[in-house]
Amino acid sequence: MIELTHLTKVYGHGDQRTVVLDDITFSVEAGEILAVVGPSGAGKSTLAQCINLLTPPTSGSVVVNGDDLTTLSANKLRVARRRIGTVFQAAGLMERRTAAENVSLPLEYLGVTKTEVAKRVAELLDRVGLSERAGHYPFQLSGGQRQRVGIARALALRPSVLLSDEATAGLDPTTTDSVVDLLRELRDDLNLSIVFITHEMDTVLKIADSVARLDHGTIAESGRLVDLLTDPSSSLGAELRPRREDAEALAGQRVWHVVYDAPDVPSDWISRASQDLGVALSVLGASVQVVGGISIGGVTLGAPAKLGDRVRDALIRYGLSAETDSSARPLEGVA
Ligand SMILES: Nc1ncnc2c1ncn2[C@@H]1O[C@H](COP(=O)(O)OP(=O)(O)OP(=O)(O)O)[C@@H](O)[C@H]1O
Ligand SMILES: [Mg+2]
Repeated sequence: MIELTHLTKVYGHGDQRTVVLDDITFSVEAGEILAVVGPSGAGKSTLAQCINLLTPPTSGSVVVNGDDLTTLSANKLRVARRRIGTVFQAAGLMERRTAAENVSLPLEYLGVTKTEVAKRVAELLDRVGLSERAGHYPFQLSGGQRQRVGIARALALRPSVLLSDEATAGLDPTTTDSVVDLLRELRDDLNLSIVFITHEMDTVLKIADSVARLDHGTIAESGRLVDLLTDPSSSLGAELRPRREDAEALAGQRVWHVVYDAPDVPSDWISRASQDLGVALSVLGASVQVVGGISIGGVTLGAPAKLGDRVRDALIRYGLSAETDSSARPLEGVA
């Protein structure tokens, strides 16, 4: 488990003084994945550097499994930092070392025997599905494979916290998914606390248990992913909900934007609401995803304009809220 309390980072003095992190407090339980999102310059990478103490925080504490890392002497800190593994964007591998040699790096620094290193490296590469690539150099690996090597290296010293700063940035969607799946698997198997920094909202949906949005160095909003997604007043929830690509409404139809509002929307609500209204509602677009066992997202429906607000009333019953475009698409030749 990792706990940050009143973490602050200030760069510069006097006129140059910039508060990059301002009183950040949050914790990530063992087995939990917290996604940290936020615009460029919000302070996400600075936060990562302060968490693993590559950069000393100006004030506040970083507590891992009960020990405050900010109060340790340089010697003790060197040991304690092993509890935090870090994965960076584009993996940050050493180009002149093979995959195996990259993974062995942290072990070599520790003075582990050659036999032990070889055994542990083989285990780690197997864990990330790269046994076959042990002797390959980074330039011979795909982006996803490089990230896997980076992850294996981050796990070499058996950390309890894994910190990932834009680890999936620049990867195509399929590769991103495979890295996300690997991280979730590792979280389950090793009971890791993972801090996953990203600017990709769709990746957050796939990986996070909870989300914090950093803005100008402060946490603007945070909460459990499922709670944010089902909270109509949450702006972070609104940003996270999948976007729809809508088809055009038919003539005489009014377009309704329907959002899942309740955790128990029946899966056959479209046919039930159609039955209630005595017309077939047509789906113009949909983007619904199951997150934490709950359907979230939205559907765009076309309904005969003459039904008016009866559509909204029919949907509320099933735990859905519906907003309509201001005007119906006119019947051909009538407008
Ligand atoms: N060493 C430094 N000295 C002074 N200012 C710094 C330093 N490092 C970062 N900053 C400033 O801190 C702010 C946050 O930077 P940071 O890299 O943490 O943002 P970020 O959220 O990771 O952005 P991005 O999404 O672009 O990676 C920026 O305004 C940056 O200029
Ligand atoms: Mg950054």
